[in-house]
Amino acid sequence: MRYRLLGKSGVRISEVALGTMTFGEDWGWGAPPEVSARMLDLFADAGGNVIDTADVYTNGTSETILGELLKGRRDRFVLGTKFTNQTDPDDPNSAGNHRKKIVSSIEASLRRLQTDHIDLYWVHNRDVLTSVEELMRALDDQVRLGKVLYPAVSDWAAWEIAEACTAARLRDWSPFTAVQLRYNLLDRSPERELLPMAGASGLPVLAWGPLAEGRLTGKYLSGHTGRVTEAGRPYTRAGSDDIVREVVAIARELGCSPAQVAISWVRQQPGTVIPLIAARTEEQFRDNRAPQPAAPGPPRRTQPSHARVPRGCHAGGLRRRRGLRRPATRHRRPPRAGRAPHHHRHLGRL
Ligand SMILES: NC(=O)c1ccc[n+]([C@@H]2O[C@H](COP(=O)([O-])OP(=O)(O)OC[C@H]3O[C@@H](n4cnc5c(N)ncnc54)[C@H](OP(=O)(O)O)[C@@H]3O)[C@@H](O)[C@H]2O)c1
Repeated sequence: MRYRLLGKSGVRISEVALGTMTFGEDWGWGAPPEVSARMLDLFADAGGNVIDTADVYTNGTSETILGELLKGRRDRFVLGTKFTNQTDPDDPNSAGNHRKKIVSSIEASLRRLQTDHIDLYWVHNRDVLTSVEELMRALDDQVRLGKVLYPAVSDWAAWEIAEACTAARLRDWSPFTAVQLRYNLLDRSPERELLPMAGASGLPVLAWGPLAEGRLTGKYLSGHTGRVTEAGRPYTRAGSDDIVREVVAIARELGCSPAQVAISWVRQQPGTVIPLIAARTEEQFRDNRAPQPAAPGPPRRTQPSHARVPRGCHAGGLRRRRGLRRPATRHRRPPRAGRAPHHHRHLGRL
């Protein structure tokens, strides 16, 4: 496992993060505690240290399961949870980004997680009714109380994140330290505004939905089922199935799983882009084992820095369809006997 930096904080974060929205069966499509435990252990054994949950995931069960599983080893992880979404349908103040919601949500999360502080405290969503000054000051108070180490933000527009960070810096409050957004081969919209903003601001990006809720494994094309039931945009736009077919074809060519190809693509984007990997079963989790990066070698003159292709993924179709450039010259040598083709060597264990 390689580590990146949490912005300018100096905190080391693994290049792959564990998503735990599937921890718990309350929503009808998650994993029971024993399977969740297995996934966490596999992740930790591989050196993973970033864990992502939320107060609303599986109605709080995700946090409760994590609280139990992290006993005795909590400090080894960079533990993140979120607030914003409604937790009590009878209480209008149980949703939002206002101070009252933050104070009640953080206490509930700390209880369920059995810890006295949250490393990354994520604003889960936008709340157009709460001013950024109210939000950033309330978060800063939690930082000063020691209950939050780093505020972070999910699913906001780039200009809103920039505005909030500027407002915080002007007043010497804690700005956001990381950004979370949906990013995968079927939804590359963050490339327009959010990724450039994150890069320019030194904010690491945690990419959720790297498999487009499982679509990029190709299983829906072959008639398998999963949690996807509704027709979700942009996943159902024309051409989406073609992209999935390309991913499956590349995986076949490389001898890895389509999930690995899709996750690898996210992980190898420029800047600090960390895929949030998640699964419902241990088998899926093993299948998603993130490829290890290649050992750093001399820069390849023929490989343009903007060639955003998973290392080793040479099938041209994906590049052509997605507007990715082929390296100017690239000759494929047949693999030497007794040795994996060189692109396979990049696909190790998580
Ligand atoms: N900030 C936010 O607003 C936000 C939103 C969503 C998620 N997140 C975070 O990001 C994490 C990942 O998001 P996500 O769950 O949407 O990620 P995803 O990787 O796109 O989808 C994961 C789902 O795909 C299916 N799957 C996974 N591996 C598979 C495999 N090898 N073969 C076949 N199917 C497989 C499973 O669902 P089935 O078995 O049911 O098909 C699994 O639950 C979450 O756990 C959460 O921590 C954040």
